[in-house]
Amino acid sequence: MIFDLIIKNGTLVNHAGIGSGDIGVIGGKIAAVGDLLTQSAAQIIDAKGLHILPGIIDSQVHFREPGLEWKEDLETGANAAVLGGVTSVFEMPNTNPTTSTIDDLQEKVRRATGRMSCDFAFYAGATGENTGQLAELEREIGCAGIKVFMGASTGKLLVKDDVSVGQILQNINRRAAFHCEDEYILEQRRELARFDDPTSHHEVRNEEAALNCTKRLIRLAREHKKRVHVLHISTASEMHLLKEHKDLATIEVLPNHLSFAAPDIYEKIGTLGQQNPPIREQYHQDALWAAIANGLVDVIGSDHAPHTLEEKAKPYPTSPSGTPGVQTMLPVMLTHVANGRLSLLRLVDLLCHGPQRIFGLVNKGRMALGYDADFTLVDIKQKRIIQNDWIASKSQWTPFHGFEAIGWPTHTIVRGNIVMGNGEIIGRGLGQPLEFLENLK
Ligand code: DOR
Repeated sequence: MIFDLIIKNGTLVNHAGIGSGDIGVIGGKIAAVGDLLTQSAAQIIDAKGLHILPGIIDSQVHFREPGLEWKEDLETGANAAVLGGVTSVFEMPNTNPTTSTIDDLQEKVRRATGRMSCDFAFYAGATGENTGQLAELEREIGCAGIKVFMGASTGKLLVKDDVSVGQILQNINRRAAFHCEDEYILEQRRELARFDDPTSHHEVRNEEAALNCTKRLIRLAREHKKRVHVLHISTASEMHLLKEHKDLATIEVLPNHLSFAAPDIYEKIGTLGQQNPPIREQYHQDALWAAIANGLVDVIGSDHAPHTLEEKAKPYPTSPSGTPGVQTMLPVMLTHVANGRLSLLRLVDLLCHGPQRIFGLVNKGRMALGYDADFTLVDIKQKRIIQNDWIASKSQWTPFHGFEAIGWPTHTIVRGNIVMGNGEIIGRGLGQPLEFLENLK
């Protein structure tokens, strides 16, 4: 057999555990895993000293196109992704216009295809007015499912009441993703924001707002017998609740919530640490780590939500919520691995197998024969300080500026194409829509 690409001498991290082995690629697919040292190939990567992970999937990013391109666009967002070792992204619908019709979704797929440097899918946003079209929308090629903002954040998407959320659940079939912060509680608490004081952010958008919303969602999901994905869980009490509902609810946590705590983060970086749901006190972070350890958490996503430094310099609460993250997610999480917070296998479970399993992603997320040849090569010993000047996002900053990372992506490979090697973007514009079981044609 002549391979297009062989990655040899690396340490494979996959369903079989961690061990040495080579990978052979033909036609963008995994054609062999094992000892291929005597085989030939058009291209060979010597991965001695490197770990080979299945391609990293970031199932929550905001790339801002169309309409907010001064913050990010599909191309710059994807470049940031592959520099950070990410091979596939699921992008959010709070653009302008919002992604809430079949035309909007097809337009995003059209803009992204052959332009983004990683593979992609787009969430469609529920508006409360498009409920009747959601079943068709979620089957569109390149659709990651439906996203519902039950609490207002950046942009206009909001469905705050139980009747409307229930109707959405009744109309759809796929697992939908939810931003859970109770809008009624947020409205009452808005006045508690102290001007120019971001340490009040987690007091305004408090634990009760998150918990109450997640409770309401679980009740509705059970009533309508539907699967739900609860995005960016940030509180101990939601974890306590959700452990009783794993039959229908899956859970995402973010590197920011695992790495920062209030009030320190706001004292240190001010509004640059402002995001929704907020970074909270240490005991919440401890509960998120416990939920990583005990298996409750299904995926880690970055919630890459770039805003410019100028926008972030506005006084709280007029400053926008969100931080860039797609490029830093893997080095930050590898550092937590190096520090013994989780195993490398659990990290691959959260960043590769998890998204594949809960979203029914086709041919991604596993290092298995016939699957797409998506790989992220990492040097788990490499030490580097994350700095703003490394950030490829248009926003050009990171809340992790100054973070001492242990573990760094060296190559990003998408369907057998090396798109990033040693910190340089090599392959541009190869991006294709992801396929899901529920929109296979
Ligand atoms: O902090 C956030 N920023 N949370 C969200 O839910 C939206 C995001 C954004 O788009 O800026």
